Amino acid sequence: MNRKKTNDSPGVGNESKHSPDKVARKEQSVAVLDEFCNPDNPKIITFQDVSAASYKIKDGIQKTPCTKSQMSQVFNMDIFFKKEFLQFTGSFKERGARYTLMMLIPEKQKNGVIAASAGNHALALSYHGQELGIRITVVMPVIAPLMKIQSCKKYGANVIIKGAHLEESRNHAIALGKEHGLIYINGYDHPHILAGQGTMGLEIVEQVPNLDACIIPVGGGGLLAGTAVAIKNLKPNVKIIGVESVRCASFTEAMENGKPTFTPVQSSLADGLAVATVGVNSFATAKPLIDKILTVKEESIALSILRLIELEKAVVEGAGAVGLAAVLEGLLPELEGKKVVIALCGGNIDTTALGRVIERGLAVDGRLVRFGVTVSDRPGGIADLTRFIADLGVSIKDIFHERAWLKSDVYSVQVKCVVETRDSEHAEELKKKLTEKYSQVEWGSKVF
Ligand SMILES: Cc1ncc(COP(=O)(O)O)c(C=O)c1O
Repeated sequence: MNRKKTNDSPGVGNESKHSPDKVARKEQSVAVLDEFCNPDNPKIITFQDVSAASYKIKDGIQKTPCTKSQMSQVFNMDIFFKKEFLQFTGSFKERGARYTLMMLIPEKQKNGVIAASAGNHALALSYHGQELGIRITVVMPVIAPLMKIQSCKKYGANVIIKGAHLEESRNHAIALGKEHGLIYINGYDHPHILAGQGTMGLEIVEQVPNLDACIIPVGGGGLLAGTAVAIKNLKPNVKIIGVESVRCASFTEAMENGKPTFTPVQSSLADGLAVATVGVNSFATAKPLIDKILTVKEESIALSILRLIELEKAVVEGAGAVGLAAVLEGLLPELEGKKVVIALCGGNIDTTALGRVIERGLAVDGRLVRFGVTVSDRPGGIADLTRFIADLGVSIKDIFHERAWLKSDVYSVQVKCVVETRDSEHAEELKKKLTEKYSQVEWGSKVF
């Protein structure tokens, strides 16, 4: 099996392996296991499990479109996007959640279930719990977005905010479940969750005949495991490629160690993938079936989100966009000329976060640039500069100037600008013309 680990480059979200948040998180390495996760005897799900799930949930889940992308030409690849962000609560998580709830024996359905999640699993369970008349309790960490907390409440769930991060919420949920006789539903490792997620793979095979590869985001590994079982059983030659953020590379780590291994996670745009230890069952199921596992940088996740908005009119969250990020980073040259499905598996991104991500994406793309230029402090010096910039069709977003720290003559002023250009060539043209006109131009991040 091919494995490729990328190095994060300087810039967006690049912290060293020994950064404070990583070291601090090391202490939380002892996660409580729930009753369906036995590392000594993992449950490997089968194609029959996925088929059974597909039949059972067919009336309660959207069959999402899987359509050819505008980006196919750019990457010289026949790209199809599986649009799971169009599920009712905005992610594929509904598949596993609905199936697991439906498979509970009536007595357990009456008791209700408990789960821990910062987002999509909680939303999926809350919504389908309401639909099926099953009481849902979700423990969410304090960092869970308010919008998701409110949506879970709107779907009638009992929401408990507890834990600085997901593992603490999880341990609390497992303890509460034991105390109150509620089944704990692990969002990426319960065998029925894996079977339910696998139904996405069945749809992909039906929707895209003759596909060559399928790229799947990886958090705890449930989606990867279920989808791999479905696709490899029907089409053994299709390559299955898992992708995670370099800031939470727990599946890569598990592959290196041959077993789920605690991997400190750092904050990431792909917050839905921030799982420190991948699932016992999902790892055992996926390991023999996958062809490659890749890690992607934060800046390419931001750029992918931007590309999906601009070119596909699709709002996709970071976790859902890592598959495209792998293609953008050029990590899959062997797929050129091939038919490739990329799962866009979630769209739950806060509007404020989306605004920041778009700005980051523009910067990575060279369309938001910053520079400093020293101009005359005489009347008209700054006006000249702004006119010059405007005449090139460049739009100024921020501008300020300073005198006190300049080492050159006292009749000069340094003007610092953040500007928006059409594309990176336009930015290069601006740089060239500015350098021709002014003797002191500083370009890029060192300016601020
Ligand atoms: C949008 C999105 N994509 C992918 C994943 C990864 O799924 P899994 O944990 O089954 O690997 C998640 C998990 O929450 C998610 O929310």
